[in-house]
This record gives sequence, C-alpha cells and structure tokens, in this order.
Amino acid sequence: MSEIGTDIELAASLLRRGELVGIPTETVYGLAGNALNPAAVAQIFSVKQRPTFDPLIVHVSNIGQLKQWVAELPKQAAWVAEQLMPGPLTLLLPKKASIPDLVTAGSPLVAVRIPAHPLTLELLSKLDFPLAAPSANPFGYISPTTAAHVNRQLGSLIPYILDGGSCQIGLESTILGWEEGIPTVYRKGGIAVEVLEDLLGPLVVKPHSSSQPQAPGMLQSHYAPRAPLVIGDLRSLLAAYRGKRIGLLAFRRGMPEIDPAQQVILSATGDYKEAAQHLFAGMRYLDEQNLDIILAELLPEENLGRAINDRLRRAAAPGAHAPDQ
Ligand code: TXA
Ligand code: MG
Repeated sequence: MSEIGTDIELAASLLRRGELVGIPTETVYGLAGNALNPAAVAQIFSVKQRPTFDPLIVHVSNIGQLKQWVAELPKQAAWVAEQLMPGPLTLLLPKKASIPDLVTAGSPLVAVRIPAHPLTLELLSKLDFPLAAPSANPFGYISPTTAAHVNRQLGSLIPYILDGGSCQIGLESTILGWEEGIPTVYRKGGIAVEVLEDLLGPLVVKPHSSSQPQAPGMLQSHYAPRAPLVIGDLRSLLAAYRGKRIGLLAFRRGMPEIDPAQQVILSATGDYKEAAQHLFAGMRYLDEQNLDIILAELLPEENLGRAINDRLRRAAAPGAHAPDQ
C-alpha cells in the first residue's frame, strides 16, 4: 500500500525523481507525474492500464505557467481562465512543442487546468515542471474522491498519496475548447454549462455518451461500477427487480422497502452541488454491498444535474436503461 500523508516536500522529491504520486484536487484525485518526462508519463498509462491514445490533462499552478505550455491563449480563453481558474475547468488549446506527444496522444492540442486545492497548488508551485494527471482510478472505473479510494485501487503501484481530504466538487473538470472559434464543451463537469453560457454566450455541447467516442475518455462505460446499474423511475424499477438484492442511488428521497444500508441519497435538500460531492463515493459504497443490481434515477437536466446524469448514463449497463428513458 502507498504511504498516505500531507508531506508536500516528499511528494515533490518523488515527482522530481520521475515517480508517480496521488494528488488531491477539488474535482477528483489525480495520478500525477512529471508531464515533461516521457518515462513518467508512460508509467501513468501503465499504472492506470489506460490506452496511450487517451490523452492526459496537464496541471499548472497559475495562468502565467499555463501560458508557458500553450502556443496561444486566445482572448476568450484568457478571459474564461481569469474568471474560473483555479477551478474545475480544463481548457483545450494549441500546445507548445515542449509538451511530449505522449501526453496529448499526438494531438496538437493540450488540455490544461489549474486545480483549486491548496495542497496541490503548493506542490505545483515547488516544481519547475507541470504535472500530467488523469483521475487516479484504473481505466474504466469510477474516479476517486478520497485518498483511501486511491489507495485501495492503486496503492500497491505508487509510493505516495497526498491526502487532501474529500474532494469538494466530486465530478471531473468541465473540458472547454474552441472549434472554428465556437466555444465547445467536450466533457460536462464541475463547472455547469450554464455558467459558461453566461460568460461566453451560446456554445456547442458535445454529446458525451457517444458510442463512437471522439476521445476514448468519452467511452460510455467509463464509470461503470461492477454491480449493474439501471436508470429509470425508481418505483417501476423496484417492481421489475423484486426479489433481487437491490441498492438504491436516489437524488432526494429513498424508499422504505429497501434496507437503509443499501441506499444512497445524494442530497435530501435537492442541492446539485451536494449531490455531485456524494455521487462517486455513493457509487463505490453501493458497489461494495454485494448487490445484484443498483437502481438509480436521473436528476433534472440542468446545472450540475447535467454532468451527474452524464456520469450515471455512462455507469449504466449498456441496454439496461428503463424503456422510457
Ligand atoms: O478533474 C479532472 O479533470 C481530473 C483531475 C485529476 O484533474 N482529471 C481527469 O483526467 O479527469 P482524465 O484523464 O480522467 O480525463 C481527461 C479527459 C479524457 O477524457 C481525455 O480524453 C481528455 O480529457 N483529454 C485530455 N487531453 C486531451 C486532448 N489533448 N484532446 C482532447 N481530449 C483530451
Ligand atoms: Mg478519468
């Protein structure tokens, strides 16, 4: 198992030596390595068992550093960055040659973000290189939102996890880029699309749950928990799966028929932010309850509900959606 702690100096020295460290961010935990060291980047792909055609996000501590790794920062991108960074936003921009091709999977664009977490910002400020970091989960599994989650799945493969507590946002960053000058959201995440629309006007939102993914990170099953998850009206699903060991992933209210230990209520007050914080930990919890099936309901399709619904749809077993969904 990894050592877990808050020793930023230790994390920095391991990273300088080309080793990997689990890092906290406000979204989810990352599996970090020196983005300028191809051997460290290769190690990230290997530990995560991730195909090398799926590119990595580069993490920096401020906008000045961000400018160091992108070939250009168009006006609109600079303005959004000033409004929302540090924060759960990733910008897709033309890369500088100094970013290894392995990081971007050969793409001329690099994904960059400034994570809003004090430990990781301090760590980044001590390093003279940026950190490549995908979510610290094995490829295809739910992203981790605590150091313990990282340790359980990758602990035997990395020397150290920087413990920054539970992630405040709980969903991965929103990925924003430009196609022929039009702002385009490639992944819904911790910054709601509505927030970006307020800043930028109308934008294109790429369908995330594509069966023909543009980026492999868009694969539909990317967040699949091991127990099959079905989405629909909870009461109808309960009738359909009667007799099975059922878990419930509900938005506001549980069901008296189900053992409370097998239910996760994302937010009793219907708060999207709280629901997002609890989503992945809730899915992990239910996955550990030895269930036959997890019944889940979608949230209203607005604000962070859109990003949460995207993760739920991708976690759902293919073809297992209720017929009316
Ligand atoms: O919140 C987050 O973004 C977290 C934390 C750790 O920062 N990171 C994260 O990384 O979610 P990952 O690797 O699990 O997801 C990154 C997504 C992938 O879907 C990848 O395909 C896309 O970003 N991506 C990265 N670089 C890209 C590029 N150059 N062009 C297109 N897509 C890119
Ligand atoms: Mg991921």
